[in-house]
Amino acid sequence: MANNVRPAEMKRISTPELAEAFIQEQVAEVRAQVGDKKVLLALSGGVDSSVVAALLIRAIGKQLVCVHVNHGLMRKGESEQVLAVFRDQLDANLIYVDVADRFLDLLAGVDEPERKRKIIGGEFIKVFEEEARKLEGITFLAQGTIYPDILESDGVKAHHNVGGLPEDLNFELVEPVRLLFKDEVRVVGRALGLPESMVERQPFPGPGLGVRCLGAITRDRLAALRESDAILREEFGRAGLSKQVWQFFTVVPDFRSTGVRDGKRAFDWPVIIRAVNTVDAMTATVPEVDWTVLKTITNRILAEVPGVCRVLYDLTPKPVGTIEWE
Ligand code: XMP
Repeated sequence: MANNVRPAEMKRISTPELAEAFIQEQVAEVRAQVGDKKVLLALSGGVDSSVVAALLIRAIGKQLVCVHVNHGLMRKGESEQVLAVFRDQLDANLIYVDVADRFLDLLAGVDEPERKRKIIGGEFIKVFEEEARKLEGITFLAQGTIYPDILESDGVKAHHNVGGLPEDLNFELVEPVRLLFKDEVRVVGRALGLPESMVERQPFPGPGLGVRCLGAITRDRLAALRESDAILREEFGRAGLSKQVWQFFTVVPDFRSTGVRDGKRAFDWPVIIRAVNTVDAMTATVPEVDWTVLKTITNRILAEVPGVCRVLYDLTPKPVGTIEWE
């Protein structure tokens, strides 16, 4: 039974030296736990699963089998980065599953937010299970559980839980960062050589862009969402806001508005910019982003993203508005 209580004397991992000591300790622990057996990991590319992957690659190399499921709701460039870092740089044993069409077909016409979440979460488990069944000799399942997940069992992650793997896939768990807080996971990730863009990634909901493409997801609006989100990230980065603002993204609603383009009437989608600061995601405030930065983003979205004729900045704090729109 794994120890799930952080010892009072455990130092906060805040320096590369402390991270290195933690890594060495975990490498030894994982090797002792796993022996010559194989470990499976769902690698989303988020901070937690990426750090666990890098740590396990250091400990057991190719005995780790990573599965990256691209459900078509990833942000621009994310799946590509997972492949570039883990397959190309770290030489991981990585299975890449492109199921974007399968997810988008399943989601066609579904407009109820919780139903969308259920479909995305449920199908994700199904795909992962299918991949797990194709593999032979897997004994362990690695997970990027972190300490707040254990402490706040009804916290942010828990209410998105859609169930787990079936009983006959009864793997023993490997959870090397389960006693760490998020900032410590990032320090460990850096010490393991992961790129800054991966280590500093802001929280991204499991259902991904699916809950930001409001109502029934369509491919055209999803494309507009992905492109506008990429522009927002690029411009916030350029303005030095990436580390100052806790979470930021765009949202594309399922209604259109009138515009004028090239002297002709347009009837296109709006893009909403959502940016928040928060400590625990239970309440949030909206940062006063420099007007010129917002104007640059607006102009770029209008010029570069097809099908968009209006850009808005969401001023709503939480409460009353939640951070995500759905
Ligand atoms: P809300 O919208 O509830 O979001 O104010 C609080 C935080 O939770 C994230 N979030 C999710 N994360 N699956 C997740 O893994 C979800 O379905 C989900 N919905 C919201 C949101 O991005 C914010 O950081």
